[in-house]
Amino acid sequence: MKTIIITGANSGIGYECTLQMAKIAKSEEIILACRNVQAGNEAISKIKEKTGHQHLKCLQLDLASLKSIRQFVETFAKEKHESIVALVNNAGLQNIGKTQYTSDGFEITFGTNHLGPFALTQLLLPFMDKNGSILFTASDTHDATKKTGMEPPIYTNVEDLAYPSATATEKHNIVGQRRYTTSKLCNVLTAYSLQEKLADTNIRVNAFDPGLTPGTGLVKSYPAAIRFLWKNIMPIMTLFKHNTNMPSKSGTRLANLAFSKEFSNLKGIYFSDGKVIKSSSDSYNADFQKDLWDTSLKLTNTNL
Ligand SMILES: NC(=O)c1ccc[n+]([C@@H]2O[C@H](COP(=O)([O-])OP(=O)(O)OC[C@H]3O[C@@H](n4cnc5c(N)ncnc54)[C@H](OP(=O)(O)O)[C@@H]3O)[C@@H](O)[C@H]2O)c1
Repeated sequence: MKTIIITGANSGIGYECTLQMAKIAKSEEIILACRNVQAGNEAISKIKEKTGHQHLKCLQLDLASLKSIRQFVETFAKEKHESIVALVNNAGLQNIGKTQYTSDGFEITFGTNHLGPFALTQLLLPFMDKNGSILFTASDTHDATKKTGMEPPIYTNVEDLAYPSATATEKHNIVGQRRYTTSKLCNVLTAYSLQEKLADTNIRVNAFDPGLTPGTGLVKSYPAAIRFLWKNIMPIMTLFKHNTNMPSKSGTRLANLAFSKEFSNLKGIYFSDGKVIKSSSDSYNADFQKDLWDTSLKLTNTNL
């Protein structure tokens, strides 16, 4: 049986992606890679009830820990699966509070949203199906020209993003938003670099923008009033605002892009609002791509 892996599958867009995947990938095993196994198993119960899919399982994965990422891959390898037909790097977070760090000492947003998925993907490459698909959930906030209401990204270099110096003059929420949007730029840069490195293969690597998707768990670090609006009021915006979607729509699009035959010709693209569009000019910057790739390999020690 071939395998599909979805990170952050217990919540928000990842949960909805897994639900859709269970409908369209009936013969594949689907692994929910979650940091909280109980939450992952609860998601499995709900998806099983809705779809009857018989091959769903949760494996523990904390993307803020290189040790956990290696353990995940070791467990996966021991289980002797056939091959991975889709790897959906969806998990992510925003931290607009005080700076936090992963267990390896990386700034938590960059560590979890970029270095973690980067390391996971590198370590899982030997298990990829020759016609497999790798996706990175990015965001339109990676593009400074889009009016998203978020602080625009600033790519400096990996060392600086992983080990930022103190920013005493700026507010935590500004710094936190910029770290988030920059980490999403890194997702797009990584997708393009990886596709280039896999140019001689049939594996496709793409970046996905779900659009503004209110109602998910992404705003955990925001004040209670914002969390309330996000859950209860902002979903109304999906009725009239461009590229603003309910989690079910974003998750369905993500699963379809990763697995559906309809999209199996798409390679090295950025998919937003249901179509292929150009990503930000920074995302095509070859110097950024090279610095990000080379230094991420070094920091995660995943040069296979
Ligand atoms: N919602 C939006 O408007 C929006 C827009 C553009 C892009 N995105 C992107 O969409 C993706 C999914 O976000 P969402 O909105 O669906 O938010 P969400 O409901 O909070 O889902 C995020 C998922 O990532 C998991 N996660 C966080 N830190 C992790 C770690 N260290 N290790 C493993 N898993 C971890 C979370 O696990 P827990 O449940 O344990 O916290 C959760 O399952 C993210 O990459 C986000 O950047 C979202």
